[in-house]
Amino acid sequence: MSAASLFRNILAPPVLAAATLVAFAGPSTPSPAGTPARPWMDKALSPDARADLVLKQMTLDEKLQLVHGTHWIVHRDGQDVPAHSNYGAGFVPGIARLGIPGIDMADSAVGVRTATFQGRYATLLPSTLGAAASWNPQAAFRYGAVIGRELRAMGFNMSIGGGVDITREPRNGRNFEYAGEDPLLAGTMTGNLMKGVQAQHLMGDIKHYAFNDQETGRTLYSADIGKRAARESDLLAFQIALGIAQPSGVMCSYNRVNAVYACENAWLLTDVLKHDFGFKGWVLSDWGGTHSTVKAALAGLDQEMPSDQYFGKPLKQAVLAGKVPMARLDDMDHRILRSMFAAGVVDDPPTPRTVIDPFRGRDDAQHLAEQSMVLLKNDAHLLPLDASSLRSVALIGSHADVGVPSGGGSAQVNAPGGDAAGPGAREGESIYFPSSPLKSIREHAPAARVAFDPGTDPAAAAALARKAQVAIVFVNQPMREGMDRATLALPGNQDALVAAVAAANPHTLVVLETGGPVAMPWADKVQGIVEAWYPGIGGAQALAGLLFGKVDFSAKLPVTFPRDDAQLPRPAIAGLAAATDEHAAAFDVDYNKDGAAVGYKWFELKHLEPLFPFGFGLSYTRYAYSGLTVDRDGRTATLTVKNTGQRAGTEIAQVYARLPGASGENYKRLVGFARVALAPGESKTVRIALDPRCLSVYDTTRDTLVRLPGTYRIVAGPSSADTPLAASFTLGK
Ligand code: BGC
Repeated sequence: MSAASLFRNILAPPVLAAATLVAFAGPSTPSPAGTPARPWMDKALSPDARADLVLKQMTLDEKLQLVHGTHWIVHRDGQDVPAHSNYGAGFVPGIARLGIPGIDMADSAVGVRTATFQGRYATLLPSTLGAAASWNPQAAFRYGAVIGRELRAMGFNMSIGGGVDITREPRNGRNFEYAGEDPLLAGTMTGNLMKGVQAQHLMGDIKHYAFNDQETGRTLYSADIGKRAARESDLLAFQIALGIAQPSGVMCSYNRVNAVYACENAWLLTDVLKHDFGFKGWVLSDWGGTHSTVKAALAGLDQEMPSDQYFGKPLKQAVLAGKVPMARLDDMDHRILRSMFAAGVVDDPPTPRTVIDPFRGRDDAQHLAEQSMVLLKNDAHLLPLDASSLRSVALIGSHADVGVPSGGGSAQVNAPGGDAAGPGAREGESIYFPSSPLKSIREHAPAARVAFDPGTDPAAAAALARKAQVAIVFVNQPMREGMDRATLALPGNQDALVAAVAAANPHTLVVLETGGPVAMPWADKVQGIVEAWYPGIGGAQALAGLLFGKVDFSAKLPVTFPRDDAQLPRPAIAGLAAATDEHAAAFDVDYNKDGAAVGYKWFELKHLEPLFPFGFGLSYTRYAYSGLTVDRDGRTATLTVKNTGQRAGTEIAQVYARLPGASGENYKRLVGFARVALAPGESKTVRIALDPRCLSVYDTTRDTLVRLPGTYRIVAGPSSADTPLAASFTLGK
């Protein structure tokens, strides 16, 4: 399909523009006679002062109007949309009398969702897990800026992307919309992503708070975990992301934590989030995640989404009866209003007038994908492929003739022109986007014969592979919200397919299009392995550029790839058997088993060797590490990286710490990292800031993070499993 025809239908004028432009009496509108003057429109005042001025004018009903949504994605079943809603996942009507716009929320984890409902187009970016593999905060910011730009153009003023639940369960169906297993990496990447969204003068969100680390029984389970482990793992990722993004919203999750629903958990919402983390924005419930009125309101929930079952009339009654103090309702409203002023959605509201530039989006997506694909194996210099000597390629599997897969659920972006892999839903498969690996590879190797086999019959695929110089097998793992994969094994016949092709052709490369880690029983039998994740609308172009060496691989794994399920803290997903039963009872997941030892920490603690370790990734060049020093109080580490190979590249240097013995920990933690771009032969000495929170333990008696006295052993190198440099510093009592 040509680029022109690909995008033709999406350049049509937005069908809802007229409906959505009537939004509200904005800041430039003079106050009609009889309505109050609007001193809160004075931009010189602080967001808090402006919010207080509005609050003083609000009636009880107006105060209640802001603390719940009005509908449950009604456009899906053809019902009427509330006046002014922009067809997003959630809508809170504004207060036109006071010049306060409505809140139009859009799911936008990896691109804006439901664009086609408005006759529009949205860019599909690589999965956020893939973006985390870049270890590049600037790239994350750019990622968010693409989403923000397109949200603005569509008239949304709030993104409800920003997933940062860490990969405690590698089979979790939503890992692709999160940012990996390490709190520092995940928090840094997600925080910068949301900062990029908000830089477009929009409101942003970080979710799902907290411990929504599996989809199986997500409304049924209680994640049971001690305070210290909680604060040094999942909650630390939130803390870091919140510190960077200062988001407007935090979405509390469906599950319970230590037996109490997250959206009515006073410890999570008030003690930790609002008090300890100093969160100034508002807590909104996940869709249908509110379970009470008084309990939730007093625990710190500020807004019920997407409707008003608990925070509509019942909250009004509770306030009038004094069961929820007016001050608490005012606090909810203050948090919402101050966030609107702080983000700029009152002063600079988005108007759905602009047509999205799909080509600009595709370029951004491609650039991000180039930094996200990880080269896991490259024996005998299989890659880069040499276009001048390449005569034949067998391309096999995963609809690689037409496109690349995407993740499902509320992170699903609409594919332009519909599913590239064919009309109609194919049960259990992903939606494919029109970025054709076959076409891109042909463009890079015009003299080669590039043939495609769908991979459904391993024997037929092997027959094609046998005749080719190089065989490239694409394998995929469909993932979506609401379900996990029962095992790390690739679904269907894909393991058999790879084994058959590898037996037929010694030069076999496997391209993984997965939501997260998978087992690879054939890893020793193939020459090359590339993890491409769900690569987005520029995925095929990025992949071809990397395979042919136009661009160097630089990404590194943001998650451990286990050998098999037996290596995991929970070899079978908790509640898997029960969750398929709609009458299933609540159950507990024992997160104290792994505690803060998530991912690579678990593997080190249990002396397990993964298939591919956290932080691992190859490139077309080589690097040498030397000269690690750490300053006296462990604020920064300095080290030198040299490019000892023949071509330019970018290395991701990683610094880990082992805490003093009193920590009781038998594993190291990531405490800093840096991307270092190097010409051939060049060396650079870089100073890497070490995050003090990652060097701390949570003291449960004083309820705070503390630095333990004693010796901190710092190691550094190219991955969690390869840390050639060592240094230390000692803190006194
Ligand atoms: C998901 C959220 C999403 C919301 C609105 C929920 O099912 O868990 O991540 O933002 O739906 O679509």
